[in-house]
Order: sequence, then structure tokens, then C-alpha cells
Amino acid sequence: MSASVTKCIGILTAGGDCPGLNAAIRGIGKAALGTYGIQVVGIASGYQGLINNQTRLLTSDDFSGILTAGGTILGSSREKPFGKGDGDALADEKPQLILDTYRKLHMDCLVCLGGNGTQTTAYKLTELGINCIGLPKTIDNDLAETDVSFGFHSAVDIATEAIDRLHTTAHSHNRIMVVEIMGHKAGWLALYSGVAGGGDVILIPEIAYDPEVIAEHLINRARRGKQFSIVVVAEGAKSVEEAKRREAEKKARKKGKAVKEQANGAAPSAGYKVAKEIEELTKMETRVTVLGYLQRGGIPSPFDRLMATRFGTEAVHLLAKGRYNRMVCFQEGEITSVPLKKVAGRTKHVPQDHELIRCARLVETCFGDQCPGE
Ligand code: F6P
Repeated sequence: MSASVTKCIGILTAGGDCPGLNAAIRGIGKAALGTYGIQVVGIASGYQGLINNQTRLLTSDDFSGILTAGGTILGSSREKPFGKGDGDALADEKPQLILDTYRKLHMDCLVCLGGNGTQTTAYKLTELGINCIGLPKTIDNDLAETDVSFGFHSAVDIATEAIDRLHTTAHSHNRIMVVEIMGHKAGWLALYSGVAGGGDVILIPEIAYDPEVIAEHLINRARRGKQFSIVVVAEGAKSVEEAKRREAEKKARKKGKAVKEQANGAAPSAGYKVAKEIEELTKMETRVTVLGYLQRGGIPSPFDRLMATRFGTEAVHLLAKGRYNRMVCFQEGEITSVPLKKVAGRTKHVPQDHELIRCARLVETCFGDQCPGE
């Protein structure tokens, strides 16, 4: 057995699930148990399992046969221990309950697999004296300080295959096909799958769109004999008008003014909103497909299996040396790590001059802000 200053770790998976989580758990478990003799405690349902002490000691059998399994053997939740849950009597006690469980089980470090919220919570736990190591997980790929999170590549595969299928039916019926892709805050998944799938229009949260510009591009395509088009819409995409309204509401809230919330369900999802705008402006037959949770399900791509295994073993390498409170990451082709403090509270948005946006514009993709060739 290799030497390790860490004798016992807890593993949890939190936030939206994705393909690759079990591959990462396997990488951590096999390296910890098999190579360093470190005890591994499985924590159920993300941070909820720490609050309620829903834990169990994992064995090598738990890590066998899960490399290609989708989802997470530990379960997940979006529990936010530092969030002020409305009417949640336990809200203020949650951090202390987590500390109690951590100490009771004699853990030396928590390994937290998750996205922005998970890594931010992990950082806050380090301020209570709990050692943490983060692994970047999300299909949105919107975690700062890492070029890629596992789950993203599998979701790009799923979304691209769906767009390919929509091409054939759009062409057969001379229709505009709108496909809604996950990604509330950042448009990485819509951008990558949109370019890979040959989307004629790609709308992402980072670039507010003008429905008139989209309509003009689709009509120009039709005039050139392309009676069908594929419009890829990130679920967080918004029009210029909507962006202005949200900005005004944000300023009003900052001044403490009451803002009339949109009635739940009043706003159709981005894909349906864009389709309605297109049909009204172009009179072209338009249909909508929302991929939703298909992008989070199923088995991980080989790329994600590799990334998850590399992240998992690097995490154990760090904690065996006592290098806590860091997030494993992938930067410029290398597996490395950064302080959790540098990741907490941040979101990696798509830069407006990203090379993939430049590349897409050169193949006449419209981002809703200007017509190609303008
Ligand atoms: O964070 C990943 C993500 O899949 C987002 O793309 C999506 O908007 C969100 O999770 C859905 O959250 P939930 O699983 O809580 O419905």
C-alpha cells in the first residue's frame, strides 16, 4: 500500500446527475481503497446524506462494474446547506449537522462531485474546518477554472445525435425545427452540439437575440432554396427585449423595489417562445423538440469515462498527500488542480469572441444578433 496522510474519506454526488459520475466514483474508490488503503464512506443524496447521516462504508464490490453505468450509485440532491430554506426549521443547523457527521465517522476529507453549487458549498465547508476535494461535474460545462467537466462530452453526443435526426424530418417536411438544449446560465452545450449538428441558428444565454434577425436569416435561406432550417436554443436564451427587462428588474431589486414576478408557467420555455416568434414573423411551419433530461441520462462517452477516471485518481493523489481544499481540473490538456476558493461562486460563460463562435459564423450560422455575411 502507498503511504497516505488521509485514512478515511467521504464521497458525495450533488446537483444534476450526468453520465460519468459512477466512473469518477470508481476512480476514487479503487485508488483510495486499493492503492492507499483509505476507508471510503458513501454519502447518499449529496449534502442531504451528510445532514441526515445517510452513509455506509463502501467496499471494492461497490466500485466494480460501474465504469459504464449512467447516473450515480450514491444518489444526488440539490440540497444547499447554507441556503436559507423558506420555513426549513433545520436551515441554520445544517452546517453543524454536517460537521457532526464528518467528525462522528472520523472522516479526514470529503470528495464532492458536482457543479457550481456543489463546489461553492464545499468551499464554505472548508471554512468550518472540513477538508474537501472537488471534482467538476456538469453537462453545462459552466464551472470556472476547468476547460471541461465530465458529463459535458456525453451530453454533446446525445444532443448532436438528436439534431442529426431532426435534420431528416425537417428536410422531409420543409419545416423549421427548433430544438431546446439544457443550459440555463451558459450556452456551452447548445454551442458545441449546435455546431456539431450543423445548426443554422444557435441561441445561447450570452448573446441576446433579435427575433427579426432570426426571421430574416431563415427567409434568406428559403430564398436560396433551403426551405428547412434547424434552430438550436439553449434553455437560458433570451431576446434583447427580455434581457433589457431582466436587467431593469435586477436594478430595481438592488434598489429594494418590489418586482412583479412572472406567474409560474407564464413564460413558455425558450424553445417554444422562439418557435412562436419565428412562425409569426416568417409564416413558415415550425415545430419544437425539448431534449430535456435525455441529455443527462444513459452511459458515459469514452471521453467522459477517461476524464472521470483521471479526475478521480488525481483527487486521491491530492488527498493522500494532504493537499486539501482544491478542485481537480483540466487545463490546457493537463490534469491539475486549483484552490476551491478560486471556483466558488463563479460561472464560466461562453466568451462572445470564442473561437467556436467565430468558426460558426464563418459557416453562416446565425446567433440571433446579426445575419451571416452582414
Ligand atoms: O445543471 C445541469 C442542469 O441539467 C441544467 O442544464 C438544467 O437546467 C438543470 O440541471 C435542471 O435541474 P433539475 O435537475 O433540478 O431539474
